Amino acid sequence: MYDILVIGSINADLVFHTDKRPEVGETVLGNSFITVPGGKGANQAVAAARLGAKVGFIGCVGDDANGRVMLENLQGQGVDLQGISILRGMSTGVAGIVLSGGENSIIVIPGANHLVSKAIIDEHIEMISSSRMVVLQLEIPIETVEYVLDLCSKKNVPVILNPAPAADMEADSILKATYITPNETEVIHLFGNRKVEDILKEYPNKLILTQGKKGASFHDGDKLIHVEGHPVKTVDTTGAGDTFNGALAVAFAEGKDIIKAVEFANKAAAISVTKLGAQGGMPRREDLNNS
Ligand code: RIB
Repeated sequence: MYDILVIGSINADLVFHTDKRPEVGETVLGNSFITVPGGKGANQAVAAARLGAKVGFIGCVGDDANGRVMLENLQGQGVDLQGISILRGMSTGVAGIVLSGGENSIIVIPGANHLVSKAIIDEHIEMISSSRMVVLQLEIPIETVEYVLDLCSKKNVPVILNPAPAADMEADSILKATYITPNETEVIHLFGNRKVEDILKEYPNKLILTQGKKGASFHDGDKLIHVEGHPVKTVDTTGAGDTFNGALAVAFAEGKDIIKAVEFANKAAAISVTKLGAQGGMPRREDLNNS
C-alpha cells in the first residue's frame, strides 16, 4: 500500500530566533518568532513524500488548532492521513525551539503523541504489513516502538529505527530493526560509552551513525565506511536528521544499496539546512538531481 509508513510524532514547532542563547537565569531579547510544522515523525514523512514516495502515517494529534494546521500541512505535502487519530480533549504535541547561529535547543511537550498506543497499532496491522518500509523514532511511547519492532520482524517488514531523542530501550528490541540511525550522542546512550568504531563494527550494514555536516558512517563487515557530508551555508539544522532518515527510507524502498542510500540521504540532509524550519528546506527529487 505505502512505500514508506512512518509511525511517530507530530508537533507544532514554536521557533524563537535569537543571536544569544539565554544562560540559566538570563533573559535575552530575540529577533523573531514563527510557528512551523515539525515533530520527528511528521518531518520524516514529509521528507520522504517530497522525494516522491507514497507515504502513510500512524500517529495522533489533539482536537486543537495546532492539530488542524499540522494535518493540513501533512496532507498538502502528500502524506496519507488515514492512520492518524484526532484525540478529543488532548493537545497536539509542541516543540519550543531556540534557534541561534543555525543550531537549535529543543523542548518537546508530547501531548497526543504520548497516546500512540499498542491498541492504535493493532487497528492498523494491515497498513503495516503491506508497507515496503516502516520508519520509527522515539517521540511516542517506547513500549509502542518496541511493539512495532516485534510486529515488523515477525511480518518481515523492514524497519528504520531512528533512536531520537535518546531514550532507554530493551537491547533485543533495538536489534529487531533492519537499520538503526543514531547520532553521536544516541549511539553511546544505546550501546554504552565505548569507542564508536567498535560499536559500528558489531552491527555491520545495520548501524548507520549520522554525524551532522561531517556525513555518516557504518561498517560493511570488512571495514569502516565514511560517507562525506556536503558543505552548505547553514540557516537552520532543525530537521536535518529527519531529512536524512526520510531520504534513507526512500532510497532503501527503491532498492538502492547501503552506500548509495547513505549518499542520497546525506545530500538531502545538506540541502535541508539551507532554509528555516524543520521542513522548510527539505528537497524535492529535482533539487537533488540538480545539486
Ligand atoms: O528533529 C527535529 C524535531 O524535533 C522538531 O521538528 C521538533 O518538533 C522535535 O520533535
